[in-house]
Amino acid sequence: MEIIVANTAGFCFGVNRAVDSVYKNIQQQPLYTYGPIIHNPQVVEELREKNVIPVHSVDEVNEGTIIIRSHGVAKDVYGAIEEKGLNYIDSTCPYVKRIHKIVDEHSKKGYQVVIVGDRNHPEVQGISGWSNGEAIIIEKPEELEGLNIPKTKPICLVSQTTYREDRFESVLKALKEHHYEVEGFNTICKATSDRQQEAVKISKMVDKMIVIGGRESSNTRKLYEICKNYCKETYHIETIKDLELNKFNSNDKIGITAGASTPARIIKEVITAMNDLENHTNENFEELLNQSF
Ligand code: F3S
Repeated sequence: MEIIVANTAGFCFGVNRAVDSVYKNIQQQPLYTYGPIIHNPQVVEELREKNVIPVHSVDEVNEGTIIIRSHGVAKDVYGAIEEKGLNYIDSTCPYVKRIHKIVDEHSKKGYQVVIVGDRNHPEVQGISGWSNGEAIIIEKPEELEGLNIPKTKPICLVSQTTYREDRFESVLKALKEHHYEVEGFNTICKATSDRQQEAVKISKMVDKMIVIGGRESSNTRKLYEICKNYCKETYHIETIKDLELNKFNSNDKIGITAGASTPARIIKEVITAMNDLENHTNENFEELLNQSF
């Protein structure tokens, strides 16, 4: 068995920074996070046991400190926190902060803000909240036709940091072809494109691919889709418990990658299990399959 682990698997810089800020401030009780700190249920549960509670609105908090996660929040959330006299620690990823700044400045200059991204994603909702609530969100270029965006204002086009680059480029191209005056900012994070490119490279080389990450994590789901294109036997798992070890055999070449919110510990458990499979003979394979990790 050969195992190839992606160098880019696991926490990106922004997620690492946000999770670190929770652990560094864990004594500041009561401690809240604005939404789950990362899309990883195991980490969120561990933190809940340490009295770090995810909330979805400032209305749920009457005292203590709120940590703003890497996805960032709308401008009015800061206003609501200050109005209630609460403390906050801003762990918005600097790459997301940059988008807030672009959107804020261009809205003030009279631009129509258009965001390419998943309209239900908290990062996109946060970005939209820096545009005085007038942002248009586009998920795919085909949606442009039905939107009838007026040509009276220039357009400021930005992207969700973890979105597909081809979609951003197609929307930009389509806007230009429709003679809009558009200023495009490719705000896709390099950590995401590097991870996706490495996933493509590995999934083309292997028999089976394992993608580790939360079911709610959009960047993990995208990684899974990408890998599945090149490697039919791609498995999306949250932890080693989801992996059906009997699908693997000693001749397999296996690739492993993980989303930006997958802790190193969870990735390590999967690598250890795979290494253990490799080191076991067929006779004790059954025994290994019954082991709990
Ligand atoms: Fe930031 Fe990029 Fe991660 S935007 S949160 S470093 S995926």
